[in-house]
Amino acid sequence: MKSLIDILNLSTAEIDELIRTAISISDNPAKYSDICRGKTLANLFFEPSTRTRMSIESAMYSLGGNVINMNDQSTSSASKGESLSDTIRVVSSYVDILAIRHPSEGAGLLASEFSSVPVINAGDGGHCHPTQTLADLLTIYREKGSFDDLTIGFCGDLKYGRTVHSLIKALLRYKDVKIYLISPEELALPSYLKDYMNELGNSYIETISLEDAIPNLDVLYMTRIQKERFQDINTYENLKDVYILKKESLNLAKDNLSIMHPLPRVNEISIEVDNDPRACYFKQVLNGKYMRMSLIIKLLSLYEKTASVKETGSHNDIGSNKEIISNEKIDSDFKCKNPHCITNHERGLKGVYEIKDGKKQCAYCEYEEDIS
Ligand code: NCD
Repeated sequence: MKSLIDILNLSTAEIDELIRTAISISDNPAKYSDICRGKTLANLFFEPSTRTRMSIESAMYSLGGNVINMNDQSTSSASKGESLSDTIRVVSSYVDILAIRHPSEGAGLLASEFSSVPVINAGDGGHCHPTQTLADLLTIYREKGSFDDLTIGFCGDLKYGRTVHSLIKALLRYKDVKIYLISPEELALPSYLKDYMNELGNSYIETISLEDAIPNLDVLYMTRIQKERFQDINTYENLKDVYILKKESLNLAKDNLSIMHPLPRVNEISIEVDNDPRACYFKQVLNGKYMRMSLIIKLLSLYEKTASVKETGSHNDIGSNKEIISNEKIDSDFKCKNPHCITNHERGLKGVYEIKDGKKQCAYCEYEEDIS
């Protein structure tokens, strides 16, 4: 049984396969409309969501399957003090697959350890969001035809923006991808991701200036400042409008720039940009549904029913196969120092870490600490 907890759970060959199926679904939805008949997906949302929850739900319905939802914590057993692992054990016995969104980092991994069915991580706190990455990858593939040789700028909240974290990990495996990290220092990318980039020899440039970066970009990935993750509201207020992409800013950009955003948008892209042919953020939404359909088919091992799909399209060389090497996991009395880590919220859950470049890295949330 396979789950999607981190985008690196999928090889680049599997991503190619998901893209091929998603394109086939968008070309011929009727062919897939019954493939999940008799299967049920549970949506367990412990954090607010509109598009991801509805996208997963609509993906499952479009495949002919059923969906049960748990999205109001006040009426669920979590409000009675039930642990996440117990909830997962119970719910996974009702369904064939489950999707979880949770405010604690590493909650998706924990869920997959206790579930008897495949788990889709639909966002774990500020950590990662692999199904948004699938939406983003299909969008980039459709816009650019390849992931190789791209220059992509991530702008805004790179600290808490989980969609950024997952997309960076995914793109690092392709050839000559150049990354601009555009953020104020307070919202800089977590160090474990910079370490991945260094490990894989990828070049990245950090800047606070969107204007300086924009002329170089093939893709600009704008993000919302993640208000709900700030401990101190004044810091959020000071930073909330730090980047606003306006029509004038685009005068400096390439004609074939693709402007992306995982949505919801707050202020960071002005509405006047929506009519620019370079704006792709509403295309991402539909691409997300097709990729989630493709993912559900894969995780439920229903690919054999779509055998003819494998022959359509030939995106042969959309990626090389640079994989991040996993180190041995050590289970001890380790306590993760990240207050948002699931290990600090789930009763009885022991910490697990890996040693990486002289640092301890939590296996659940990837937070790093120096060994002193
Ligand atoms: C993102 C998320 O939830 O992380 N939204 C989404 O899934 N489409 C981005 C965000 O909330 O800013």
